[in-house]
Amino acid sequence: MKIAVIGTGYVGLVSGTCFSEFGHEVTCVDKDPKKIEALNNDIMPIYEPGLDTLVSKNRTGGRLHFTTDLKDAMRGAEAVFIAVGTPSRRGDGHADLQYVFAAVDEAADYIDSYTVVVTKSTVPVGTGARIRERLAAKLDESLFDVASNPEFLREGAAIEDFMRPNRVVCGADSDRAQEVLRELYRPLYLNETPVLFTSRETAEVIKYAANAFLATKISFINEMADLCEKVGADVQQVARGIGLDSRIGSKFLHAGPGYGGSCFPKDTRALVSTADEHQVPMRIVRSVVEVNEERKRAMADKIIRACGGAVDGKKIAILGLTFKPNTDDMRESPSLDIIPALQKAGASIAAHDPKGMEEAAEMFENITLSEDPYDIMADADALVILTEWNQFRALDMARVKSLLKTPTLVDLRNIYANADMTGFTYVGVGRAPE
Ligand code: UGA
Repeated sequence: MKIAVIGTGYVGLVSGTCFSEFGHEVTCVDKDPKKIEALNNDIMPIYEPGLDTLVSKNRTGGRLHFTTDLKDAMRGAEAVFIAVGTPSRRGDGHADLQYVFAAVDEAADYIDSYTVVVTKSTVPVGTGARIRERLAAKLDESLFDVASNPEFLREGAAIEDFMRPNRVVCGADSDRAQEVLRELYRPLYLNETPVLFTSRETAEVIKYAANAFLATKISFINEMADLCEKVGADVQQVARGIGLDSRIGSKFLHAGPGYGGSCFPKDTRALVSTADEHQVPMRIVRSVVEVNEERKRAMADKIIRACGGAVDGKKIAILGLTFKPNTDDMRESPSLDIIPALQKAGASIAAHDPKGMEEAAEMFENITLSEDPYDIMADADALVILTEWNQFRALDMARVKSLLKTPTLVDLRNIYANADMTGFTYVGVGRAPE
């Protein structure tokens, strides 16, 4: 099957590439000529494990194309996927749909035979209906259907998530559109992936409900961690103790510095805004957002407490800047709140991240970055682990201790055990009274 994908950001690039791996003929379109030229030379705009190999393989296999020419991309395409950004609109938290509508309007000019217009970007419920109206103003209704096919991939594990998903959700109201989507995902039927066909509105809500629920689990366990610290309980054992109940499940119960990234913060805010518009209070998700915002500030205070109550004139070494491991993405990373708060309190910061330093160099002021994780520790008053990269799980602790001025380790991802930290003042999350 021939398809076009508009937008070569995270979702568009991974989805387009994986569809070509399924055997479909895919053309990815982007307005940015530099990005397209780079992709045509197998240079990736993002770091995602395995993506470069898959792009190269399918591009040279003739199934995956990159172009700036939408008309060319849409020739003969049975489906066009809209995968452009939907950032939070400044001020009100709504998803900004201007790029989605611009892509739809442009695509409409090149639809001359039946095409399914599919939203892959995360769009608020009702967007599919608005896209339908826009297309109907330009085109005969027999020429198109609008479907919603939300994406559930995680950065850092995106290819695995696409190729072996827990489920695929297709929101399409007509049999014809459903047939096109069924054909696209046919390779997944072999490994019995559940493919759910729903109405378009239901699919749109499923995407937000999934992210909001996962964010809720995180804020929930983070509040439990606070209680554990006060009463001498261990939040990791609490998470295991509740997670073994299959009704609860063990995933997304890792306490930490709060969720970040390009999805949870934006999508939880957008869901609250959509609910407000429909006079639905959505109190739980609103609290989840508040708890998370509060959490990042509280983590800076936690570090300051671990340093004896003040960091003025002190040096703090930070390992991990990205919002999670295996990505170079800094969007809404807890580090963006925690580091400036420490600087405001008078600390100087030296940091290392395996993939995020290029972006970090532009986002932080007055920070020393080093390619070597040990370099940053020299004479530091404390070491803080902000992101749980594998590289940080087996540090040479004798060396760390010899480098630090004061052997204080604040482990905001609980990758070490208190018991292994003899000789250190060790502070984890939700594990021991401070
Ligand atoms: C998330 C969802 O997991 C994907 O299913 C979804 O497709 C994607 O958003 C999206 O909407 O596009 P992602 O943002 O890549 O994926 O990353 P996650 O692995 O979900 O982590 C998000 C944040 O939550 C990170 O900051 C992570 O450190 C934090 N987290 C996650 C915790 O603090 N504790 C946990 O137990 C799990």
